[in-house]
Amino acid sequence: MEAPGCWRLLLALGLLRGAAATAATEAPTAHVLSRVLFCQPDRPSLGLADTFDGDQLFSFDFPGARWEARLPDFQPWLGTQESREQIGNDSSLCRQLLSVLTNITTGVLPEARGTPMANVFTAQPLELGKPNTLICQVGNLFPASVTVSWQRLGEPVSQGVNTTRYYPTEDLGFLLFSYLEFTPQEGDIYTCTITRPRDRFSTVAYWVPQNPIPSELLENALCGLAIALGIFFMVTGIVLLLKSRRPSPTE
Ligand SMILES: *[C@@H]1O[C@H](CO)[C@@H](O)[C@H](O)[C@H]1NC(C)=O
Ligand SMILES: *[C@@H]1O[C@H](CO)[C@@H](O)[C@H](O)[C@H]1NC(C)=O
Ligand SMILES: *[C@@H]1O[C@H](CO)[C@@H](O)[C@H](O)[C@H]1NC(C)=O
Repeated sequence: MEAPGCWRLLLALGLLRGAAATAATEAPTAHVLSRVLFCQPDRPSLGLADTFDGDQLFSFDFPGARWEARLPDFQPWLGTQESREQIGNDSSLCRQLLSVLTNITTGVLPEARGTPMANVFTAQPLELGKPNTLICQVGNLFPASVTVSWQRLGEPVSQGVNTTRYYPTEDLGFLLFSYLEFTPQEGDIYTCTITRPRDRFSTVAYWVPQNPIPSELLENALCGLAIALGIFFMVTGIVLLLKSRRPSPTE
């Protein structure tokens, strides 16, 4: 969980710096800060999040009635968001509009639904027997109502699982991540299963350990390669230097 979070922060900071730099040179900036509030009949019935270029900064925890920072580094900016009262008013407006639009469009327009697409990968390079995190990235979510579960060799796994809130995406869909702390073993088969209410099928993504890195071997190999390249370039450099210094026979 640490690594992707850290990466996202770096990315966000990089973009912020990019924005500042481009502002100074008066070049047009194309960053998007968005706040998405949604209401729906399925759970969660309400959602609210702030994103910067698709990276989540803050989300509102409706049951707890408070804002949460996606990363601890964003904590200082908490408190600049909408108040609970304002969110309450916006939420009731959302529900009223939903009810009116549902009455108008039922039987007229088809219900919009996206088929979830999932991808499972490890947070760290794979090493058998070394603790790692499996990340299940679930995209193309619409509406924002799915259940993510993990299985190892077909048996449910619930310990060490953390699932994020829904991230609004630029195409007005949603994305979420589920993390599973695990220690990879030979012969493992992990599955990340995504189910939606009222669907008779699930989306399943598999993960099996492939080409694990024997760590010491890799380090030694990389180190050896670096030394070999270093020696090669040194010798080439000396040869070129001597050649360039040697007076040509015609002189
Ligand atoms: C929320 O709605 C109530 C009732 O309509 C209104 O009195 C109040 O000013 C609103 N609050 C905000 C922050 O807009
Ligand atoms: C929508 O229809 C339902 C049932 O027909 C009705 O109870 C509800 O008041 C309607 N809502 C609006 C906003 O018209
Ligand atoms: C899940 O999140 C909670 C709260 O942020 C944290 O205390 C816990 O360590 C996390 N668990 C895992 C497995 O990442």
